[in-house]
Amino acid sequence: MKKISSFLAAAMLILTSALQAQTTVQFSVNANAPGSIISKNIYGHFSEDLGRCIYDGFWVDPSINTPKAGRIRLDVVDALKKIKVPLLRWPGGCYADQYHWSDGIGEPTKRPKRINANWGMVVEDNSFGTNEFLQLCDLVGCEPYIAGNMGSGTPQEMSNWIEYLNADGNSTLAELRKQNGHEKPYKVSFWGVGNESWGCGGNMTPDFYSDQYKRYATYCINYPGAPLKKIASGANADDYNWTEVCMKKINKWDMWGISMHYYTIANNWDHKGSATQFDEHDYFAALKSCLHIEDLVTKHSAIMDKYDPEKKVALAVDEWGIWTDAEPGTNPGFLYQQNSMRDAIIAASTLNIFNNHSDRVKLASLAQTVNVLQALILTNKEKMLLTPTYHVFDLYKVHQDATLLPVQFFSPDYAYGKDKIPAINASASKDKDGAVHISLVNADAHSAIKINAAFLGLGYKTVTGQILTSAAFTDINSFENPNKVKPATFSDFKASADGLTVNLPALSVVVLEIK
Ligand code: AHR
Repeated sequence: MKKISSFLAAAMLILTSALQAQTTVQFSVNANAPGSIISKNIYGHFSEDLGRCIYDGFWVDPSINTPKAGRIRLDVVDALKKIKVPLLRWPGGCYADQYHWSDGIGEPTKRPKRINANWGMVVEDNSFGTNEFLQLCDLVGCEPYIAGNMGSGTPQEMSNWIEYLNADGNSTLAELRKQNGHEKPYKVSFWGVGNESWGCGGNMTPDFYSDQYKRYATYCINYPGAPLKKIASGANADDYNWTEVCMKKINKWDMWGISMHYYTIANNWDHKGSATQFDEHDYFAALKSCLHIEDLVTKHSAIMDKYDPEKKVALAVDEWGIWTDAEPGTNPGFLYQQNSMRDAIIAASTLNIFNNHSDRVKLASLAQTVNVLQALILTNKEKMLLTPTYHVFDLYKVHQDATLLPVQFFSPDYAYGKDKIPAINASASKDKDGAVHISLVNADAHSAIKINAAFLGLGYKTVTGQILTSAAFTDINSFENPNKVKPATFSDFKASADGLTVNLPALSVVVLEIK
């Protein structure tokens, strides 16, 4: 008996000190100072003719026994509809600058076969081309974002593609589109003028690119009812000079946006690390790399502010996400990687950063929707699974087109070795029906954190919550266990008249709805 009670006393002591040690963060949401609109297009996705993204992901062999529209698999489409995917970017990526659109129209069996020199040297049969991509967007209910070929294509070729897509009337190219089954113009508006023109898109200097942009953009015609939103190929990560030169040289009225690409890497480009077999060192390093995007967005935005103080030109982060080594046993050129709870923390943190910078970041697309890099969905023949990253986009869809509300807090550190990063990140918005959503991330792998949230200018009656968490940062959804990481109802909070106390578990993403 004595033994038991001293054991209990010791346990109580440990529990009490653990509770006392829990960090408390003072947090405020200010509904009196609404900010920019969080464009739904921040929640966009990228799907390149690469590996098993298009072929096998969206566009499957007729023998695959799953509901399909033509060869487009509808389970994937339905999953994307559920998270309200607003936009899909295609055909690349690097592939965009080797792609000739006329290869991908007309009778499928007559289309030329080309080698995908960027990704695995596999033969591309072009059965998925312009009309198929636009059918896919139509099924998903999203806007197409097409990246035109500036690297190996001519201004005429780019111009012809736009005429084929957007011209009404009876020009030869409009007639060709009609013959291929689409009577009305597609009215594609998001148009990329090249991709990574500093690298795979032609190895250009920013000066040369800016001049070429002006030349190509001249022939990107706005057909009646179909004005283009032209997006310049922007910087690689911290290449601030690229942004500076483009912003200086290109007419702001002829550039809807300029892109920026940044990938999260746990180690280095030669040894990116595994998507599933990693330790806390790599978890922490990936998180640190991910959070660096805030610095990039801030600095590119500051350069843009010099030339465009009214913020008319968007920063389009049209490639982002974690890039790991390809799964063992798969074609390394196909960039197939699994997706873990770590990736969910990365997605949620990045989206918080984009929300908080939505005055300038008006479009983003995660690389890449299905079976490639930080995918939302993985497929294996008839089977399909939703990744932890998918669930983040599901939880965060409430921010689409909502008004940003400023949040204030000092994050405690998440320390690893001699290094540290902020453990908490967050964003908040108010939707058109008046509901407020707060998305909170606790990236600390070990410690729960208590949030004392004060609401300024916000009356409310109900609070509900959802959480995405898992025991380990390496946890994944597999075809054997597809629901290991999935959202659950969250109720570990206490509401008072003017705020909330929330217990945010380690390694978690929480979205609260306040109405
Ligand atoms: O997303 C994979 C590749 O990464 C894209 O093709 C390219 O634009 C970038 O370098």
